[in-house]
Amino acid sequence: MSFPGSPEGAATTGLDSSPFEGRPEVLDALPPLTEQTRAEAREVMARYPQPRSALLPMLHLVQSYQGFVSPQGLAFCAEELGLTTAEVAAVATFYTMYKRRQTGRHLVSVCTNTLCAVLGGQRIFDALKADLGVGHDETAADGSVTLEHAECLAACDYAPVVTVDYEFYDQQNVDSARELVAALRRGEKPLPTRGAPLTDFKGVSRQLAGFSQHADAVAAAAAVDAPGSYEPSLRGVRLAAERGESAPPMRGPEPEPADTGEPRETVRPSGTTGETPGKEAADARVAAADTPAEKAGAAGSHPDAAEPAGRRLPDGREGTDTPAGQEPGTTGQGPGGRPPAPQGPDGPSRTIEGRGPQRRR
Ligand code: FES
Repeated sequence: MSFPGSPEGAATTGLDSSPFEGRPEVLDALPPLTEQTRAEAREVMARYPQPRSALLPMLHLVQSYQGFVSPQGLAFCAEELGLTTAEVAAVATFYTMYKRRQTGRHLVSVCTNTLCAVLGGQRIFDALKADLGVGHDETAADGSVTLEHAECLAACDYAPVVTVDYEFYDQQNVDSARELVAALRRGEKPLPTRGAPLTDFKGVSRQLAGFSQHADAVAAAAAVDAPGSYEPSLRGVRLAAERGESAPPMRGPEPEPADTGEPRETVRPSGTTGETPGKEAADARVAAADTPAEKAGAAGSHPDAAEPAGRRLPDGREGTDTPAGQEPGTTGQGPGGRPPAPQGPDGPSRTIEGRGPQRRR
């Protein structure tokens, strides 16, 4: 069994209460944050009207020097921005891109969220875990690679995906992912499937702080414009073109009615009203709708449409009739414990054994 705060607990629950690295032998070996770092931090701060808005890129800057957010890095950001270290730590522990322990030369993230998991993401993670001899958010003994579970990496059309230092390696399988990681450990930098060439964790952290890794503007543009097929993302567009399908044209804004000098009735916050200046146009929209879906949409936005169910309670309050503690997303947290599993037409919903709720990163 694992608990929040342990690396595996963090992977299962999305919670991570582990502390920032504090071992003297690690901290003493870190490259120091220098006057050069301070000058770059001030360059970052100058980009924002409020200095504290620079905190996120400054944390990346610290990581680009030290490989993670060290206690020295927390204090550095706090001092420069006029914040407390607690405020900086609150931000640094909220986002999973900020690391609390030394990261390997490369950060390998394996998406194990729904679509990738169904297509083999978990098998990929398990294989890499075995090869590297590490668990979630742990670094191989040779310092080459840190492995982590990742929530949806917003590339479901390329599932299952692996990123290295946030660059995409699409449509992986166990063998290709193992070979990718083996190449990284040999010191190679295989080209990502699309986007910029691979750098390393410190290098990409510098980019995320807003500093270029490239010698000049031409090299930077070449990296950004690196080739990629993007075929899976374009498949829907191509299918629609083959079938001659297209989205209905967008309607322009309704013209303002002429000002007659008479007081006009306004739409109440609930959207319900009697004769409003838009009623005639809404009638016309319903009449002009071609398909059942368009008709339903036009009728739903008509000023005379009934309030959607759940918007207004019988006593006039805004809200829903859902009992407290049983709103979506609060399963098992309300009084009376876990509510019964939702029933579909074919019986209770299925759950995946052993997978707890995941918090989105
Ligand atoms: S589920 Fe893996 S990228 Fe979306």
